[in-house]
Amino acid sequence: MGSKLLHVTVAAAAALTLVGAAPAVADRDTGHGGGEHFTVVGHRGASGYRPEHTLASYELAARMGADYIEPDLVTTKDGVLVARHEPEIGGTTDVAEHTEFADRKTTKSLDGVEVTGWFTEDFTLAELKTLRAKERIPDIRQRNTIFDGRYQVPTLQEVVTLAKRLSRELHREVGIYPETKHPTYFRKQGLALEPKLVSALNKNGLNRHGAKVFVQSFEVSNLQELDPKLKVPLVQLTSATGAPFDFVDTGDPRTYADMTTPEGLREVARYADGLGPDKNQVIPRDAAGFLQSPTTLVRDAHRAGLTVHPYTFRAENTFLPADFRSSEVPSEYGDLFAEIETFRATGIDGLFTDNTDVAVAQREERLAG
Ligand code: G3P
Ligand code: CA
Repeated sequence: MGSKLLHVTVAAAAALTLVGAAPAVADRDTGHGGGEHFTVVGHRGASGYRPEHTLASYELAARMGADYIEPDLVTTKDGVLVARHEPEIGGTTDVAEHTEFADRKTTKSLDGVEVTGWFTEDFTLAELKTLRAKERIPDIRQRNTIFDGRYQVPTLQEVVTLAKRLSRELHREVGIYPETKHPTYFRKQGLALEPKLVSALNKNGLNRHGAKVFVQSFEVSNLQELDPKLKVPLVQLTSATGAPFDFVDTGDPRTYADMTTPEGLREVARYADGLGPDKNQVIPRDAAGFLQSPTTLVRDAHRAGLTVHPYTFRAENTFLPADFRSSEVPSEYGDLFAEIETFRATGIDGLFTDNTDVAVAQREERLAG
């Protein structure tokens, strides 16, 4: 196991004891995958209920019981880290309605894919703050659209400040789980994300053993470079297909499939403390969308000393395995409880979810016995 992770679990237990709650039992003490300390990450906040990556979304996730809130990080033109899933913001803000920014619409190559729209790195923070967030998938989450136009794009600092305020109010530590998005893409534009992230963690007293922070990335070289600079645990994200873009960019032939073999996982464990796989890498689906037998990924990752937090658990039928869908209607809810129970049986240590309330309720039911 990564030594950074041990410090997190011990500190989390101490923090809870300080505020009078039942002390947490570290996964490392009880074995992977079970028990009180199963980690619930509010994926992009509570994005099943609010437009993603808004302070309202993060706050709701924390109030629902998320252990961590998860900002995906991109940068502005003036080098401020802000929370968006992608640099392109046409899909998650009202930028298209701002005629003053019409000439910023452009086409760029993003990790080898041509993308047309508006990009955060072409806006100063002051300009970005004039925009308002909107629901990314309104056809699936029509109810969330009632919140369109109400919230700004938050900075990382605003997310950290929110987490600190809610930690005081809720009498438990709300962690942050930031992801560096498209690190190579930003570095090539002279806007590297990593120095800003290290600086922000330092400034907020969060670059220390035991701080309730995980840092994640789909790329590898940036995590390797961050490893000696950060005292908090790092999580290597993996996809069910493809390869890290920094590998593609430098001609390294390794793929995510290579990285998730037992040998590949031992390499990951040299710099990371956790693995964030696509949930289909944990339990694949057949052509009709039904779950097949679990892979050995969780066991192999644990043997390499990595904690495992797969993504992303969502309540709508369109995201669920066929086993747990309630109907053919993509936006209707299926049985997310059952999906989480099924995946927890593989020994995962936590998960990313758009529906924190369901994952927390499942955890409480399991603890109640
Ligand atoms: O970081 C976990 C999960 O969010 C990875 O997928 O693309 O939604 O950031 P993505
Ligand atoms: Ca993410």
